[in-house]
Amino acid sequence: MRLLHGVAELRAALAGLRPVALVPTMGNLHDGHIALVEQVRAGGHPSVASIFVNPLQFGAGEDFQRYPRTLDADCARLEAAGCDLVFAPDVGAMYPEPQTFQVQPPLADELCGAFRPGHFAGVATVVLKLFNLVQPAVAIFGKKDYQQLFLLKAMVRQFNLPIRILEAETARAADGLALSSRNAYLAAAERDEAPRLYRLLDAAAARIAAGARDFAAQEGAVTAELAAHGWQVEYVLVRDRATLQAPTEATRGLVILAAARLGRTRLIDNIEVHPAPPPTSPGSLDQTRRRRASARDRVLR
Ligand code: PAJ
Repeated sequence: MRLLHGVAELRAALAGLRPVALVPTMGNLHDGHIALVEQVRAGGHPSVASIFVNPLQFGAGEDFQRYPRTLDADCARLEAAGCDLVFAPDVGAMYPEPQTFQVQPPLADELCGAFRPGHFAGVATVVLKLFNLVQPAVAIFGKKDYQQLFLLKAMVRQFNLPIRILEAETARAADGLALSSRNAYLAAAERDEAPRLYRLLDAAAARIAAGARDFAAQEGAVTAELAAHGWQVEYVLVRDRATLQAPTEATRGLVILAAARLGRTRLIDNIEVHPAPPPTSPGSLDQTRRRRASARDRVLR
């Protein structure tokens, strides 16, 4: 596995490797990141991981300075996972000019964007740069960062980038907490409390899958339960998976997205709502019940 820091050496090394699969990261790698590498390796392309804590996507007062930087340990994990090349530029290599062009994505002021002004412009800009530098055939992102994945898929579509985007399921600790580099900020008592976020989202998803249609009440129930256990909730929202907007008659699939703070640590999570299996086989349903069930499935699928 080669570790490269400069743009020119990256380009030279890639000449003999393409087509490649890219795994963009900010480092401090955990099992969720490594699963991304394994998923692209299973596709057969040589794998390139990038490690870059991108200042553009951190707001004033956020954790850019204290974000954990663990390059040696990250490289050891990537090498063990069979990664072929690591690109770990410094800020000057990525942003050599003082004035930086930025990509302005849609939905950048919604969900997480409402609480992190400029964040998604920073993400889209760095990922577009990485795409231009590496020119991968394939790139992979995790569903853990659902809005990020959604926006990057839209960017690839709308800018006609010849890159296939793979999606990875969220890797979780045994107690359900989504793995995240920021979990390291949690004090012991907070770490014990943290899985409540996923438990509540999972329970709300189950209620919706079972037919609950009072989305605002479901959002409110999760919010109230988190607040009662000391969380400061930023949002809990049921959204259309295809648009990340509020569900409508045309909605075919739902996702519940949430962001909340435990102490100083901001955690995000989400869960897609999948329909529960029908209570009886369709053959035994009368016409009305069959119509109702298929309408419900259309909303949930
Ligand atoms: P980072 O938080 O390091 O995450 C890198 C990739 O790993 C992202 O695609 C993210 O969705 C995925 N990931 C993180 N935790 C995961 C988990 N528990 N399960 C599955 N996938 C997980 O996301 C970023 O970095 C940056 O915004 C980046 C895209 C690299 C741009 O700077």
